[in-house]
Amino acid sequence: MKNILQVRDLKVSYGAIQAIKGLDFHVGEGEMVALIGANGAGKTTTLKTLAGLLTPTAGQITFDGKVHSKIKSYDLIREGLALVPEGRGIFPKLTVHENLEMGAFSRTDGNAAIEADIERMFGVFPRLKERAFQLAGTMSGGEQQMLAISRALMGKPKLLLLDEPSMGLAPIIVQKIFETIREVVKSGVTLLLVEQNAKLALQTCQRAYVIDGGRIALEGKADDLLHNEQVQKAYLGE
Ligand SMILES: Nc1ncnc2c1ncn2[C@@H]1O[C@H](COP(=O)(O)OP(=O)(O)OP(=O)(O)O)[C@@H](O)[C@H]1O
Ligand SMILES: [Mg+2]
Repeated sequence: MKNILQVRDLKVSYGAIQAIKGLDFHVGEGEMVALIGANGAGKTTTLKTLAGLLTPTAGQITFDGKVHSKIKSYDLIREGLALVPEGRGIFPKLTVHENLEMGAFSRTDGNAAIEADIERMFGVFPRLKERAFQLAGTMSGGEQQMLAISRALMGKPKLLLLDEPSMGLAPIIVQKIFETIREVVKSGVTLLLVEQNAKLALQTCQRAYVIDGGRIALEGKADDLLHNEQVQKAYLGE
């Protein structure tokens, strides 16, 4: 399997605080990989760095065969990398339909193709179709998460970075969103998933990394980690 993402000895600081202290991990094309860990472990910092929003102090990120530091953050979307941030980051004062159009801003394949993809998203999340002309900020948390994921997919990414998609949502909505995430991956998108809900993440993904204090503490097949005593005690509440 070809790696779409390769991270080597990544270090990231906020001023004097070193949040990421040397991370090594990779994601293969078509894989679903989870990054789990406690509050403050460095999960969001890692995703933001991958999305070009933070500049590493050391290390190397290779995305789709290109050294990442040479790509500007606005170009990363064009290169095929999309982040759904913690808190979703939709445009609350724009309608659902306008948010989806914004997600396609980097595309050059024309309005007909974009409109067809908006319809495809509406097929995946009928809730969004019903609310196409509603202001995004007036929707429920679950609907906003559906929109955030759909908007990211409108950019036709090769790699989707999801930061805590389950946060603040009722279990039934989380189930629906994760079902869709699995379908999206089947359709050819690679996924790097950050979740505090470690159980859900390990049940969804094929492999996972446990991050602790800015370092990888454990890694392996998701199934093995689900049955790992250390993981169960620290992250699965068992
Ligand atoms: N803007 C910032 N300025 C200073 N320190 C920060 C900033 N953002 C995060 N940190 C620190 O960096 C470390 C990693 O934070 P990060 O947000 O990456 O953790 P996380 O794993 O995403 O946590 P959570 O599960 O709570 O979202 C923490 O110690 C945090 O306090
Ligand atoms: Mg976080």
